[in-house]
Amino acid sequence: MSGPNTSYDPVEVAALDPAAVEQAVDEALAAFAAATTLEELKAARTAHQGDKSALSLANREIGALPPSAKAEAGKRVGAARGRVKAALEERQAQLEADRDARILVEEAVDVTMVPGRRPLGRRHPVDLMGERVADLLVGMGWEIAEGPEVEAEWFNFDALNFDADHPARQMQDTFYIAPQDSGLVLRTHTSPVQARSLLERGVPLYVGCIGRVYRTDDLDATHMPAFHQIEGIAVDKGITMAHLKGTLDRMATELFGEGITTRLRPSFFPFTEPSAEMDLRCFVCRGTDPDCRSCSGTGWIEWGGCGMVNRNVLSACGIDPDVYTGFAFGMGIDRALQFRTGQSDMRELIEGDVRFDAQFGMEI
Ligand code: PHE
Repeated sequence: MSGPNTSYDPVEVAALDPAAVEQAVDEALAAFAAATTLEELKAARTAHQGDKSALSLANREIGALPPSAKAEAGKRVGAARGRVKAALEERQAQLEADRDARILVEEAVDVTMVPGRRPLGRRHPVDLMGERVADLLVGMGWEIAEGPEVEAEWFNFDALNFDADHPARQMQDTFYIAPQDSGLVLRTHTSPVQARSLLERGVPLYVGCIGRVYRTDDLDATHMPAFHQIEGIAVDKGITMAHLKGTLDRMATELFGEGITTRLRPSFFPFTEPSAEMDLRCFVCRGTDPDCRSCSGTGWIEWGGCGMVNRNVLSACGIDPDVYTGFAFGMGIDRALQFRTGQSDMRELIEGDVRFDAQFGMEI
C-alpha cells in the first residue's frame, strides 16, 4: 500500500479527507469519554487507535500520496493521532485513579474493629475427671477397660453374686430393656466390668473402668437417673485390704490434693467380702469446721463402695479363690464433682450449658 502511487484508490484517498480525520478524532474522543471502566476503555482504544482504526489507515495511506501532498497530510493526521493519544492517556489515568480510589474504599480493613467472637466449646468436667482417673490408674500400671451400657443381667447381677431376690434387681431400681425376658438391663453400676475383665483378661488383673450407669432415680438436686462411676479391680496373688486402702488414698490425694485421704466403714455388697463404704476427707474444711456445709460438719464425704472381691465372683469367672485374692472399688464422679465445685444442684451437670463447663471444665 505504501508503494509508488500507481494504483490510485479513491476510497483510501477519501480517508485522508480533513473532515473524515476530524470526525475520526471526534468519535475517538467521544468513545474514550463514554468508557466508564478500564475494560471499556481498552475496547475503545482498539477501535479508535488500533491497527484497523480509521486514523491508522489514514496514516498508512500517507505513504501512497504524491510527495507534494505528503507533508500536509502527515501533519494533519499526525496531529489528529496526537490528540487521540493524549485523550486516551488522560482518560486512562482518570479511570485508574477512580479504580484505585474505589478499591481503597471497598477493600478497606478496619484494624480497630473488634473481631467476631466465636465461643469456644469446653470439655465437660465429668469427662475431665474421668480422664484424670484413667491417667492415674495407667500411671500405676493398670489397664483401662470398657463395658456396654446395655448390659446382660447376668453380668450386672448374677456374676456379681446378687441373689435372685436381691432388691436391686427390682423394677423400681433398675431399667430393664424390653421385652421383659430380654435378659438385658441398663447397667446399674460399672461393676459388671469386673466380671467381664476377669473373664476376658484373666489374672493377674489390674483394670479400671470409667463409665455411665443408670438407676431409676428421679432427677433432683442430688440424684440423676444417669451418672458416672469409676471402677477398679485388682486380682493377684497375695492382694490384701492394705493394697486397697493404699490405692484409694493415693487416688484421693492425686485427685483432690495433699492431705485428702479416705476412710472405710463396714458395709455390704454381694460381690465383695468384706465390704466397706469409702469416705473422702472433706476437701473444703478438712475436718476442721463443725459448721462446714460440704460435709455437714462430719469431716468426711461419702464417695463410694469397695471391698475384697467375693470368692463367688472369682469362681464364677473361673479363677481359683484359694490362689488369688483381689480388691475392687467403685465411686461416683458426678457426686465428687458436686462437692469439689460447691455446686448445690447436680442438674447443672447435665444441662449442657457451656458456661457451666467453662467454669469447671479446666480444673476440677
Ligand atoms: N458397684 C457398687 C455401687 O455402685 C460400688 C462398689 C464397687 C462396691 C466395687 C464394691 C466394689 O454402689
